[in-house]
Amino acid sequence: MSKVIAVFGAGTGLGLSVARRFGREGFRVALVARRKERLDALVAQLTDESVEAAAFPADLSDPAGVPALVDAIRSHFDRIDVVEYGPIGADQAFTPATKLDAATLEGISRVLLLTPVELFRSVLLEMTDRGDGALLMTTGYSAVQGVPHLSGPGPVMAAARNYVYSLNGELAGTGVYAGTLTIAAMITGSEAAEATAKGDIELPDNGVEFPVVHPDELAGYYWDMYTRRDRVEQAHPVELTPQAGFPAFTPQTDATA
Ligand SMILES: NC(=O)c1ccc[n+]([C@@H]2O[C@H](COP(=O)([O-])OP(=O)(O)OC[C@H]3O[C@@H](n4cnc5c(N)ncnc54)[C@H](OP(=O)(O)O)[C@@H]3O)[C@@H](O)[C@H]2O)c1
Repeated sequence: MSKVIAVFGAGTGLGLSVARRFGREGFRVALVARRKERLDALVAQLTDESVEAAAFPADLSDPAGVPALVDAIRSHFDRIDVVEYGPIGADQAFTPATKLDAATLEGISRVLLLTPVELFRSVLLEMTDRGDGALLMTTGYSAVQGVPHLSGPGPVMAAARNYVYSLNGELAGTGVYAGTLTIAAMITGSEAAEATAKGDIELPDNGVEFPVVHPDELAGYYWDMYTRRDRVEQAHPVELTPQAGFPAFTPQTDATA
């Protein structure tokens, strides 16, 4: 039975490219986002390209909805081998840190931290039982580096990124890989790129220039991370990838304290 990738936060940018990249390798594809018509259009596009795909409309701001959503995907496809998590929308817009409040942060945390933790937990047993699987988390560069006027999702994605680093170490030797892709670029074809081009999203004049990247290139990183499993994090542009080689954290025992 062919493998299944579930793309959580599937739109015309990275989501479609990840689906297509893994689909080209024989994966069947589950697509999750809120708007059914847009998902149906992505399914039709993948079907035209001979990739088996199905849509699972759901709102990822509700961590309690994760078990039912995972059950729905499993009852359709029988299995989940890879999860890619990368929803983004107007609800997670950049906010200056001086204007950030708890209510905004709480809303963002539901989508970008609480739900992925529940989701990864709900597929982990299947993956460890099989001795194979991958948990892939997409973030923006503000997860790594706080940038003036670009707060909001950054602090939450920083927590999610931190969690993936822990997962990656804990899963070593189980056959299950956890990794994160950190993007410091505008993704062509995404709604964010289209809204920015139309002037609907105005980026602050803070001296930060975003390069542009095609989502197929980013999806290629994910395929490479999935097949090689040799790094916990990949950044685009590549030179922003944190250097590997941190010494492993070794808790002190009584004997050594
Ligand atoms: N776009 C960029 O330029 C850019 C730059 C840096 C980093 N990134 C990161 O790259 C990843 C992919 O970005 P992308 O713009 O290319 O995304 P995409 O694959 O084009 O689409 C993401 C989809 O997430 C869905 N979504 C948002 N909130 C949701 C919710 N509460 N529940 C379910 N689905 C939800 C949206 O569809 P619905 O509205 O229909 O739910 C949206 O179409 C994200 O992690 C993003 O943070 C993007």
